[in-house]
Amino acid sequence: MTANQHHAETFNPNALTMVQVATYERLIQVPLVRVWENVLDWEHLPYLHDTTFNYVELDAGGQWGWRTWSNADHTDHVELTLASADSYVARSYQAGHQISEIWTTLTDAGDSTQVQVRFFMPNIEEKKIEKLGQVMTSLYTQLWDEDEAMMQQRHKRLHEDRDNRPERILGEEEGIRSKLAGGDAVTFQLRRREYQIAEVEGRLVAIPTICPHLMGPLLAIDTKGGLVRCPWHGYQFDIESGKCVFPEHADCTLPATPELNLSNGNIIARMS
Ligand code: FES
Ligand SMILES: [Fe+2]
Repeated sequence: MTANQHHAETFNPNALTMVQVATYERLIQVPLVRVWENVLDWEHLPYLHDTTFNYVELDAGGQWGWRTWSNADHTDHVELTLASADSYVARSYQAGHQISEIWTTLTDAGDSTQVQVRFFMPNIEEKKIEKLGQVMTSLYTQLWDEDEAMMQQRHKRLHEDRDNRPERILGEEEGIRSKLAGGDAVTFQLRRREYQIAEVEGRLVAIPTICPHLMGPLLAIDTKGGLVRCPWHGYQFDIESGKCVFPEHADCTLPATPELNLSNGNIIARMS
C-alpha cells in the first residue's frame, strides 16, 4: 500500500494557497534511531498523547508512513509520509479538504537529534498567522515533551544491564505489604528482567515492570480485574496467563514470572 495522495512527498501537492505560520526547533535527547521509530509508530498517538488525539484508527501503513482515520465516520484523516532520508510530512484532512501540512526535518547529533518543524496552513489571513503559530508551537512542545520522555525511557531500558541472578531475598512480608499499602513500588531484578510486587486478592505476586511490546512502563499498575495496562500504546495483559488481551492484533505476552515464597518471615523470589 502506498500513500493515497499524489506526490505526497513533495511540498503542497494539492496546490493550495499555503501560509507558513511558525517554525519549531528543538534538540531531543535521544539518538536519531529512537526518533524514527517514534515517527512510524502511529499506535502511541491516542495513549501517550491522549489529551491531543481522541480517535485514531489505522487505515494503512508501511515503510512509506501511515494513514489514520480521525473519526469513526471516516471523513477525516491524518497522513504521515516519509519525504526524504531526513524529513517527513504530516497532513490533516477534514471532509476531504487539507487543513494543515507539517514538515519535520531530523538531523543526527550523536546522542541527540536536532528537530525542525515547519507548520503550513492553507488560506490563512495575515492577522491570524501569529496566533495560529503560537497554538501549533505550544501543541508541538507538549507532543515532543511526551515523545522525548517515552524515547528516553525506551533507550535506557534497551541499554541497561539488569541483574542476572535466579533468586533473591526481598525482605519481610510485613514491610513489603506496608510499602505497597503506602503506594510505594517494590521492584527487583532476576534473570535480566525487572519485576514489581503487587497484591492481587490478598496474595503477593510478581509482575513484570517492562512491557513486552516496546518496553513501556508497567509500574504502579492497577491490578483490578486481573489486568495490567501499558500507558504507551494501551496494551492490556492478563496477569495470570500473561496473555495480551488488548488489542486483538497484538503478538506479545508477559515474560515468565518468579514464584514468591515465604521463608522465616522473608519473601524470596525465585525463577523456576
Ligand atoms: S510499550 Fe507498547 S503497549 Fe507497552
Ligand atoms: Fe508522538
